Order: sequence, then structure tokens, then C-alpha cells
Amino acid sequence: EQNPKAVIVIFGATGDLAKRKLYPSIYRLLQNNRIGKDFAVVGVGRRPWSNEEFRKNVNTSIENNVPEHEEMDEFLSHFHYHPFDVTNPGSYKELKGLLEELDHTYEIPGNRMFYMAMAPEFFGTIAINLKNEGLTSTEGWSRLVIEKPFGTDLPSAQKLNDEIRAAFSEDQIFRIDHYLGKAMVQNIEVIRFANAIFEPLWNNRYIANIQITSSEWLGVEDRGRYYESSGALKDMVQNHILQVVALLAMEPPIKLTDEEIRSEKVKVLRALRPLKENEVSDYFVRGQYGKGSIRNEDVPGYREESNVDPNSNTETFVAGKLTIDNFRWAGTPIYIRTGKRMPAKSTKIVVQFKDIPMNLYYNNGHNMHPNLLVINIQPDEGITLHLNAKKTGDGSYARPIKLDYCNNCIDGINTPEAYEKLIDDCLRGDATNFTHWDEVALTWSYVDTIAKAWSSVAAEFPNYASGTMGPDASDDLLAKDGYHWWPVTDTE
Ligand code: BG6
Repeated sequence: EQNPKAVIVIFGATGDLAKRKLYPSIYRLLQNNRIGKDFAVVGVGRRPWSNEEFRKNVNTSIENNVPEHEEMDEFLSHFHYHPFDVTNPGSYKELKGLLEELDHTYEIPGNRMFYMAMAPEFFGTIAINLKNEGLTSTEGWSRLVIEKPFGTDLPSAQKLNDEIRAAFSEDQIFRIDHYLGKAMVQNIEVIRFANAIFEPLWNNRYIANIQITSSEWLGVEDRGRYYESSGALKDMVQNHILQVVALLAMEPPIKLTDEEIRSEKVKVLRALRPLKENEVSDYFVRGQYGKGSIRNEDVPGYREESNVDPNSNTETFVAGKLTIDNFRWAGTPIYIRTGKRMPAKSTKIVVQFKDIPMNLYYNNGHNMHPNLLVINIQPDEGITLHLNAKKTGDGSYARPIKLDYCNNCIDGINTPEAYEKLIDDCLRGDATNFTHWDEVALTWSYVDTIAKAWSSVAAEFPNYASGTMGPDASDDLLAKDGYHWWPVTDTE
């Protein structure tokens, strides 16, 4: 079924995100018949582009990102550019006129999706002006889509939230966390709640620990300015990683509605044991990449990257041990790690089950390999279950084996990309895969203590070479508990 007709207004239309993700996603939604022929996209930006220039850029974005595309003229004719000055009320009045014209042309009942894909300092100003100038009071719906970063700590997130809430109600606000649009992140709940065999074991009695790794081989690239004020903790942990933790640890929702799922996720985040500043170093490790070699190429250290302070204390790697204080998880640690300039791009969850009570069988003189459930989020999508099975004819020798399910081998390249899925959800009004304010507030409050502890002590950076799995202290974190990181890349 097609989504309701709407005008999609993109603030930051000339920016990187719009070109890399949003235009290709809109194209694929059309290809897959998720939006009909009567749609309109208004690109808003500071540059004085004409419609022609804008369409040329959208065309390039499709050519670069969608391998199979057809004749583009008709598609491009739905794109309109509106040069814009964020602080000038006149700009909003003109925009209003354009939207009304497009409503009329395509018989759109006043539905508007306002997508903020630009510098966050303007989100509040734009939101309030949209309301004050009457752009949100139509017969149809108005929704505000907001990209990260949603603040840089709890107070700034609260301020931003107050600003947008002055113009939009919570159910009109769609805060993007693009990890929630990933096929295998969405599969976490299905694996857990659509199978009888996992949920009975999904607790501290049977699970020894859970490990979440999200590694990238890319460095900071041309985002030095942003990254210097962020670092891996705020860039990845506050949002993507803690969202994954919430999905892994939550109780089964009573229904699959956004409110029910959200309320279960919030309970997990509330049960996360807050750290005191003086214990942060026992639970969290930070790292920064030095020079090294990635895919056989020499690469510079973080401090040598452009727009980065040569004495920067910004972390490009984080490892941490999380404790969830509730009946289900007390005593089962969740380890997380994420970083740039690691050997490979890979996001994986490893659920390590407890050892069997005693070994009846032998594995080359070792104990039985623990059972692992590995959820492969990217680049491979699927699950791998590690079991032990008898080696044919070899007495009491049981060896580790793997059962492998590859999701993208079945659904192939037609799997919608995260952004495509999320725009689709927003057009339908389904907020399940977006982050609610309560989640944002709780994750910031958890992360703020860590950031504060780190900002008060200079780090000994760089402390890992590009192309490695992070500083040694990351391994020590698990070794203290008698565990180790399960390798998630071929080179580890
Ligand atoms: C973004 C971060 O939110 O996620 C980036 O700002 C990071 O620094 C990216 O590279 C990772 O996303 P993905 O989908 O490539 O794993």
C-alpha cells in the first residue's frame, strides 16, 4: 500500500546527507511504489540555486547511488528549490506559498514532512518559525524529522527539545537514529520474540555476557570539526549503541506499537547502572588512533587529520562495560566497543552463553566452546549460532560448528536501506524506529558522566595504531571478568 501523499521539505538540501542518503531513498521509495507519482520535494538551502541546478545535483546523487535507474526527467520535475535565510520570516512566507502551490498541483491534502538535515544550531529557530508563519497549520499532518546530533549533553539536548516542542508535539517529532532502520537491528526483536528457543535463555542464568562491536576502518575524513566536539562516545555510544543495548535487553512488549516498545526500551535505560565520575576508568576505556596501516595503505594519526587539534584529547575509540540492574540482567555484563580506523567495517553482537556444567566431551584438549549467538548487523546481515557437534568416528571428540543464516543472501539488494525505511515509516506516521525524548534524555545522562570524567584528565593519546582493534586496555576490561572479545573481523 502506498503512503499518503505529502510534500517533503528538506532543510540542508545541498548537504552531504541529502545527496548521499535522502535523494536516493526517495527515488527507491518511488521505484518500490511506496510513494505515488503525485509527490513533491522542496529543497531548502542557503545557496542561491535554481530549480535546474538543484535537479542536476539530485540527478548526480541518483546516478552515483542507485545503480538501476530509469529516465530521470519525470522524477526530477517533482524537485523544487527554495533559497532560504533561516532567520528571515519572509523566507518562511515564501516557502508557505510554494508549499500551497505544490499541494494544489499534486492534490496533496496539506501533509508535510519537514526534514532537518543541516547544522543543529538552527533546528529550534526553524521549528518555531514554521509554526509562527503558519506552515504547520494545514488540513493534513505536519511532521518534523530531526537528524543527530540531538544536543551535545543533557542540558543542550533539553534546550533543543524545549525549542522544538514549542512548535511540534512529541508525536509529530521523528528523531532519527539510522541504526534503527538497519534490517538486522530491526531483526533483534524478531529473533527474540518470534522464536521459542531464545527467550527462555535470554537472561542472567544462561547468558554469560553480551558483546557489541561496531568498528569502522574509515578515519574521521573531512568531519574533523564536528568530530572534535563529539568523539566516539557522543557520536556512536549515546545513540546507536545504547539503542541496540535497549533492544537486546528489553522485556517483550505487549504489542508492537511504538508506545509499548518505547516504554520497554526506556525501562532498560533506566536500569542502566549510572557510573560515578571516579569509577569511570574502571568501566570505560578511551582510545585515539595513531598512524598505521589500513588495507595495506599508510594512514595518518587522528591528531594529523585536518581540522583536528594536534594535541587533541578527543577519543576515536570507546570500550565499556555496562551493568543493567534488573532481575533479568543483574550479573551479566554487556560489553560495547566502537572505533574508527579499526581493521574492518563491521557491526556485530555476540551473545555468549554460560559454559555447560561439566565437560563430557573433549575438544582437542580444550573445554567445550561456549555457545554463541552472533547477530551480524553489517556488512553481512544474518545470524550465526555456534554449537558443538561430534566429529565423525572420532570417539568423544566434539568440535565447534556454526549454523549460518544470511539475511541479505535471501532478501538481496532489494533490502531497503536504513534511510529509505525510516522515511517510509515517517510518511506512514509510524514512530517505532525513532527515538523518543525519554530515551534521548536517559542516554545523555548516562554518557555525560563519562564525558565529564574524561574531560578532567588529559588522555595519553594516541594509544592504538590505525588498523588495530583499539588499545590494550579494551582487552583488559574483559580479562578482569575472565572473558575476552570474540573476534568479529577476519584479521582480529
Ligand atoms: C554516524 C556517525 O552516526 O554513524 C559516523 O556520525 C559513523 O561517525 C556512522 O561513521 C556509522 O554508520 P554506519 O551506518 O556506516 O555504521
